[in-house]
Amino acid sequence: MSQETRVVSGMRPTGPLHLGHFFGVLRNWVDFQKDYSCYYFVADWHALTSEYAEPHKIKSFVGELVKDWYAAGLDPEKCVIFQQSQIKDHAELNLLLSMITPLGWLERNPTYKEVKQELVSKDLNTFGFLGYPVLQTADILLYRPQFVPVGHDQLPHLELSREIARRFNYLYGDFFPEPQAKLTETSKLPGLDGRKMSKSYGNCLYMGEEMDSVRPKVMSMLTDTNRMRKSDPGNPDICNMYPYHQLMTPKEKRDEIRENCTQAKWGCVDCKKLLLIHLEEFLGPLQQRRRELHDRPDLIQDILAAGNQRAAEEAGKTMDLVRRKLNFDF
Ligand code: TRP
Repeated sequence: MSQETRVVSGMRPTGPLHLGHFFGVLRNWVDFQKDYSCYYFVADWHALTSEYAEPHKIKSFVGELVKDWYAAGLDPEKCVIFQQSQIKDHAELNLLLSMITPLGWLERNPTYKEVKQELVSKDLNTFGFLGYPVLQTADILLYRPQFVPVGHDQLPHLELSREIARRFNYLYGDFFPEPQAKLTETSKLPGLDGRKMSKSYGNCLYMGEEMDSVRPKVMSMLTDTNRMRKSDPGNPDICNMYPYHQLMTPKEKRDEIRENCTQAKWGCVDCKKLLLIHLEEFLGPLQQRRRELHDRPDLIQDILAAGNQRAAEEAGKTMDLVRRKLNFDF
């Protein structure tokens, strides 16, 4: 793959990342560092769209997010790690794109409608929240990437970004490439209780979680609900725990699990103990990398400062051209 292919993506700093984030998106981000020129940013302004009443919460999560990324294997030497609010060009491009984005496109956005209904505890009747996808489009187009690695939930936003890019190109002449989503292929990791893994359901294993806290959670996690007694044969294909083994346990061991489960030789407790062994092997290296940044806010600041500088250079080039296209190059 050519180094020219560029990838941009962001995450909101709203709390610690769990294994759903890791297997759903972050693992892809890490892989892309090898083949593409990658720009990954902390979307702190996007966090503000829903957390505006308690903005102080965002600050500590910025550093925590960088720690989770670093723990996952993002390498500041191989990709650009930066912070959205430190590159003011995001705000300027957001403003310019807001001029050409029809309100109807934003009002029709299914994510907007869903989140507004779900987060009833917050008043999201704001200009900023409606404009969330415009800011996201600015984030993306500033770096003119070919691909945007995101989870399925972001597809409507990406579609809007392409529409806004097309409208810009139509009004001012071809300029922005239409950004394509790059989805993760692996199956999703369910939460410990079988629902989608989500902080609000309290069914997560976190990337930075210590084994002492992981152990009891795993020992009480949901397995194959049809298997009432240990003497009943189980079925890994409908078991809530099996996807974990698929992601963390070596193939030979999985064959053993399948045999012992379907022939009722093992109970779910045996299987959970085995999972804990492989979970520990998986989390160990992550935790080791996290420790490098532990209690080192200066290192986190260094990573962001270096990334911000590189991002600012690219964003600056795009904005010069955009201003020229709009005859705003005074
Ligand atoms: N909306 C994204 C999310 O909630 C975060 C985000 C903001 C983003 N700007 C972006 C993702 C630009 C990709 C590209 O996950």
